[in-house]
Order: sequence, then C-alpha cells, then structure tokens
Amino acid sequence: MAGGFVIKLGGSAITDKSKPYTVRLSILHGIAAEMAEAIARGAEVKGVVVGGGSFGHYVATAYSEEKSPAGEALSSITASMTELALAVHDVLQSHGINTIIYPPHAFCRPRDLKPNCAWHMVSASIELNAIPLVYGDAYPCRGQWCIVSGDELSLEMACSLGAEYVAYLSDVDGILDPRGNLVTSIELGKLGSLKGDSIEGGKGYDVTGGINRKLRVIQANWCSRLKGIWIINGTRLDGRLVRLLVEHRARGTLIAP
Ligand code: IPE
Repeated sequence: MAGGFVIKLGGSAITDKSKPYTVRLSILHGIAAEMAEAIARGAEVKGVVVGGGSFGHYVATAYSEEKSPAGEALSSITASMTELALAVHDVLQSHGINTIIYPPHAFCRPRDLKPNCAWHMVSASIELNAIPLVYGDAYPCRGQWCIVSGDELSLEMACSLGAEYVAYLSDVDGILDPRGNLVTSIELGKLGSLKGDSIEGGKGYDVTGGINRKLRVIQANWCSRLKGIWIINGTRLDGRLVRLLVEHRARGTLIAP
C-alpha cells in the first residue's frame, strides 16, 4: 500500500498524568490491538513516536523547578523516557508488532523546532519489518538540557521515511472549537485562526504544550509529500484507529494542505 503512517502516541493518551511514571496499560493494549489488525489488513506503519506524559514531562517539570546540575537532569529525563519507550515496545511486541527503539538524544541534533535526526540510520530496520520507534526526549544543548518533542519528531520522521500521514493519538477527539465542537477538517493555511481552540485534553505539567507551539511545529516541519495530519482520540478506540490506518477516514480532525 502506498503511503503509510507515522503514529504518535500522545503522552496524555498512554500515560496517567495524575500519577508519575504510570502507563495506561489497557489503553496501550487497545491501541496495539488496533494497530496489529490494521497492519494485518494491509496498512503500513512507518514509525511510532512516544510522547512524554507522566514520564518525561513529569521529570522535566521537576528539574525545571529546581536548580540541579544539568547533567543530573539530562540523565534522569532521558532515563524516564527510555523506560516509557521500553514499556510501549513491550506492549506492541506482545501484539506481534516489532519495533526497534532509536533514542533521539543519540541520533538527532535539534535546531529550533527541527529535530535534525539522522533518519538514514533508521531506514534499514524498515527493510526487516522492524518499525522504528522514537520518543520525545532531552538532549544536551547550549551547556544545558533541552527538549525535543514527539510532535516535531513525528513530522520529520514521516517526511524522511516516506509516510503520507501522521496520526496524533490524543486524549480528546481532535481539535475542539471554543464551544467544544469537533473541527473535522482544517486547511493547513488556516491553522493560525485556531488560537483559542484546544488540541490536548490533558491538564497539568507539560513542558512542550500549547497549541501555538504545535502550530509552529507543523509549519516548520511540513513537507510536500505529506497528505495530512490526523488527530484522533487514542483513549476511546472503537475500531477508529483501524479505520484510519486502513481506509484513511475516522472520527477526528484532519489537517491537510
Ligand atoms: C515530551 O514529548 C518529552 C519530554 C518531556 C522529555 P511530547 O511533547 O511529545 O509529549 P506529550 O505527547 O505532549 O506528552
């Protein structure tokens, strides 16, 4: 099948942000089951991206509030995300989906909102049917630590590995207008008009949150090969991820050129 998807598992969908270091295992198994069914029906998943949730965001927020040595913060944040990535890997593999974890701090040199990852190092695994998995991460920058979000990693990954769509699995149905109604589709060029709208239901700590940053990420990393970014609810799966991956339609928001 031409095209294919990069799937970002949003931290507020797959972790419980009210409890540090807590994976929402039943949700993750539901997502994995739908991904496996879609792949069996011919869908192509070119990459998986894991958000920080109650792992990376929690640890990064704790370190941004206290004056600890940068090396200690970097060590702890990267370790927390390695742990979450491994937990996601284990659940996906239990459903027959073989992922291979690539730590962004080891192969990306972000500049502003562009992750600048060495994606050619990743593509060989795809030939073996092992799906590359990356995650929002911390990395050394300007004598300090900085964060690269899964949002920008997903777009750059899709553009570099030849996927036509990015699917963001959130904990809300999609972009909601100020009245809470679902925006089912929106043109890329009109994203700027959405400033009062919401893209994430998750409350609380979040070092990469806010719709404005997401919009800038999309603008900075969009490429002509991309046909769209879908935002769907990853916590209410009722076959919608299968439909999205196989038939390219689902309840959610499609951002397209
Ligand atoms: C954040 O990644 C990573 C760290 C804080 C280390 P994301 O920005 O992709 O995470 P979510 O999906 O919003 O939780």
